[in-house]
Amino acid sequence: MEPTTQLLPPWLWGAATSAFQVEGSPLADGAGPSNWYVFTHTPGKVRGGHTADVACDHYRRFPEDVGLMRQLGLQAYRFSLAWGRILPEGRGRINTRGLDFYQRLVDQLLEAGVQPMVTLFHWDLPWELERQGGWANPATVEAFAHYGQVVFRALGDRVRLWVTLNEPWVVMDAGYVHGVHPPGRREPAVAVRVAHHLLLAHARAVQVGRAQGVGAVGLVVNLEPKHPGGEREEDRQAAQRAHTYNNRLFLDPLFFGRYPEDVEEAFGTPWPEELCCQVEQVRGSLDFLGINYYTRSVLVHDPQAPPPKVRRLPPLAEASTTMGWEIYPQGLGETLHWVAHQYPKVPLLVTENGAAFADPPPGGGRVADQRRVRFLREHIQQVLAARAQGVDVRGYFLWSLLDNFEWTEGYFQRFGVVYVDFASQQRTIKDSGWFYRQVIASDGRLLQHSFTFPSGDR
Ligand code: FCB
Repeated sequence: MEPTTQLLPPWLWGAATSAFQVEGSPLADGAGPSNWYVFTHTPGKVRGGHTADVACDHYRRFPEDVGLMRQLGLQAYRFSLAWGRILPEGRGRINTRGLDFYQRLVDQLLEAGVQPMVTLFHWDLPWELERQGGWANPATVEAFAHYGQVVFRALGDRVRLWVTLNEPWVVMDAGYVHGVHPPGRREPAVAVRVAHHLLLAHARAVQVGRAQGVGAVGLVVNLEPKHPGGEREEDRQAAQRAHTYNNRLFLDPLFFGRYPEDVEEAFGTPWPEELCCQVEQVRGSLDFLGINYYTRSVLVHDPQAPPPKVRRLPPLAEASTTMGWEIYPQGLGETLHWVAHQYPKVPLLVTENGAAFADPPPGGGRVADQRRVRFLREHIQQVLAARAQGVDVRGYFLWSLLDNFEWTEGYFQRFGVVYVDFASQQRTIKDSGWFYRQVIASDGRLLQHSFTFPSGDR
C-alpha cells in the first residue's frame, strides 16, 4: 500500500518525551518490569547509578505537565506508552489500570487542545519478552502486533497520529552491537536478525493500525549525515559504510522492499538469504516518516572497531553539547533534502531535535539557556527553509519538553525546555521554552527577529 499524505495535518509544532524517561513509578498499578528497569537496577550500567524510578514523576504529575504544554502553546505532544503497563507479560493479559493512565493523559491533552502523538515502543520492552530473547526472537514480532491491536482499540478513536518504533537502529546498535543498552549483547550476526524483526514488527503494526482505521501510522528513525574525516579513499568508504549502516538500513526496505546493496559490507556479516525475501513485504508500510536529528558524524576508517568499522572524530568542545555531539544545524537541512531526494514521496516530520547543556539552576524564576535558544532557532530555520524549498515536512517536535532521565547518562544531561529540579520535582520554564512559545504563536515568523525574554506575558 502506498503512503497516504492526507492523513497528516499541514503543520504541527510539538515537543516529545518517552515513557521510561519521564514517568517514574515503573511498577505502579500492576505494571510489569521492563528491560530498562532491570538494566538500570544493574550496578555499573548507568552513570552515577541513577535509576528512572522517579524520573519526572510524570505518572503522577501529568496534569501539571499538560498545563505546561498549554502554557507553551504546544499544538502536539509526542509521548510513548510503556508496553509493560498495558501488557505486564508483553502479551496476553491486559492490565486495565495501566491503560487507564494513558486514557486520562489523552483526554487531558485533547481538552487542552494538544494533539497526542503516540509512540508504541520507545525502547522499554517488557522484561518477560526480553527474557525470551527480546528482538532477537521472531515471536516478538507477533507480540508487538498484538500490543498494537490492544492500544489501537483503546485509543484509536482519539489518537490519530501513531509511531510504531522509536529509532530501531539504536535498539539494534546499542543493544546488540556495542552492548551498552539492554540486553547488552555484542553480536553483530544477531543484530542482523534484530534489525529484521524490528522491520517486520513495524510493518505488522502498521497493517493492524490501517485495518483499524486509526489515522496516520509512521516510523521514527534517527538520521545523521556521515562525513569523511580525512582525504583518504578509505575514509570516504568508511563514511559510506556508516551511511548505509545508520541511515539506509531501515529506509531502503521500507521504501524499496530490499536491503541496501552494500549492507553486508557495512555489517561485515553475511546477510541471510531468507531475510532478503521476507523484507519485500515491508515496502510502503508507513504513512509518514519521523526523523530524529541531533548531529552529524565525521568519520575515519578503523579496522579495529565493530561494524561498520569507523571511528568518530570528536568535535571541538565549544561547538558541541554536553553529550559531546557537534552542533551542526545545516545537517538537518541536508538530511531532509537527502530523504526527499532519495526516497519516494512521503510526508516527513522532525520528531526529535534538541540539545543538552549545563543549564544554571533557576534564579528568580528564570533559566537563561541562551545556547539552547540559539540551537533551536538555527535548527528550526533549517526545517522551514527545507519546507520553502519544497520538502514535504509537516512539523517540528523538540526534544524535550522536560529535563529527564537520559538513558545511560542518567540525570546528567538536561535536554528540556522546562527545567526539572529532581529533588523537589519543581518545574521552571527555561528561556528556550518561552522562545519556543513565541515561535509557535508567530508560526515561525519570530525566527526572523531577535528574541527577548518576556517580562510581561509569562
Ligand atoms: C534519542 C532518543 C531520546 C533521547 C534523545 C536525546 O536518541 O530517542 O529518547 O534520549 O536521543
